[in-house]
Amino acid sequence: MRAVDLIRKKRDGGELEADEISFLIAGYNSGEIPDYQISAWAMAICFQGMTAEETAALTTAIVESGDQIDLSAIAGIKADKHSTGGVGDKTTLIVAPLVASLGLPVAKMSGRGLGHTGGTLDKLESIPGFRTVLDREAFVRQVNEIGIAVIGQSANLAPADKKLYALRDVTGTVESIPLIASSVMSKKLAAGSDAIMLDVKTGKGAFMKSLGEAEKLAQAMVSIGEQVGRRTAAIISDMNQPLGFAIGNSLEVKEAIETLKGKGPQDLTRLCVALAAHMLMLGGKFECFEEAEKTLMNQLLNGEALSKFKSFVKAQGGDDRIAERPELLPQAPFTMEVRSSSSGFIHAIDAELLGLSAMRLGAGRATKDDAIDYAVGVTLARKVGDEVQAGDVLAIMSLRERSSSAERVAEDIAGSFSIEQSVPNPGALLLSIVTSEGIARL
Ligand code: URA
Repeated sequence: MRAVDLIRKKRDGGELEADEISFLIAGYNSGEIPDYQISAWAMAICFQGMTAEETAALTTAIVESGDQIDLSAIAGIKADKHSTGGVGDKTTLIVAPLVASLGLPVAKMSGRGLGHTGGTLDKLESIPGFRTVLDREAFVRQVNEIGIAVIGQSANLAPADKKLYALRDVTGTVESIPLIASSVMSKKLAAGSDAIMLDVKTGKGAFMKSLGEAEKLAQAMVSIGEQVGRRTAAIISDMNQPLGFAIGNSLEVKEAIETLKGKGPQDLTRLCVALAAHMLMLGGKFECFEEAEKTLMNQLLNGEALSKFKSFVKAQGGDDRIAERPELLPQAPFTMEVRSSSSGFIHAIDAELLGLSAMRLGAGRATKDDAIDYAVGVTLARKVGDEVQAGDVLAIMSLRERSSSAERVAEDIAGSFSIEQSVPNPGALLLSIVTSEGIARL
């Protein structure tokens, strides 16, 4: 087999066989096939697309480039979830203990934040003492004992994806549904869970700007999962504003705890309960969504979800007193209010700009080696649909120090609010659900 013939075949709209795709990925991973040939192939995929079978074969080839986690020592169906790049998205901190509190084990590997998006590992590490590194035995034991563990991704999980993603980033080949779907799913499949719940964001702050595109991506990912025997479903949710009010690591942990007590923001609670309900259905714990939803709301109100969160934090070395005493989380020494310069209604809040603003305050990383400050961030005071008067507080910044750069960030935060005179019609948060049976608009 020769790479050049396979590039030509894809360029001319042909369908590649699984062994041809595997030849390209294995050759690229080992260094035998150079960057320039894989770049040309990725560009051909951008133009010609891939069939569902080719996309699944590509995902399998990427999974086979590295470690595959064996979770067979954990009894029953193991569940995982993944959100495609949100801002203020602390859903894992809520959904994982929620489903575990109803007997569905969650053995999860999470990532760190980069650029405008945050990462679950950073949020968890803002809890004093919390460890995100566990050896395999401790990880499996903890899931068997308390039904939940969340650790950092093993370095050798889907290594071909790391190389491919870096190449796509500099060759204009990120924006391709089969390439994105295989990249996301390769990491989920290698991490070993049987049931995979996806949260695909759409809107200004998301990869997929339109609902149609988000549905196509979700369908591609669900199809990969189903073809390799993993139960998979996706919710499409709106990202035309951040989720909840808090952006920044310890601020988000605090908001997640409020949500686990049934006192969280409405949008965050709604999305978490919907994701958890679908996860429980994939895991065979419920057949009816409404029934699962009702039970989950009760788990938030009766203290069971919070109690599971506390056992999880404690098992991983964290200080579980934060559940009752949030002041034990890292606290920023200063705050600064961001005020509106005009009156009207909030039509949108640019989640990407807010995520970048929180990053510039120190809550996130511009490059993967940057240190982060767990205490700092942004808390929204208003959301889409609210009416404001000039001078009203739109957001509060939590700062390490008052500085001129903080003043500039404040201007950007103010600029992320679109304020107009007309009364907005805020769209729905939950837009579609995609399963192996098809797409249902909500
Ligand atoms: N996230 C990924 O992991 N891969 C992509 O290709 C895009 C977003």
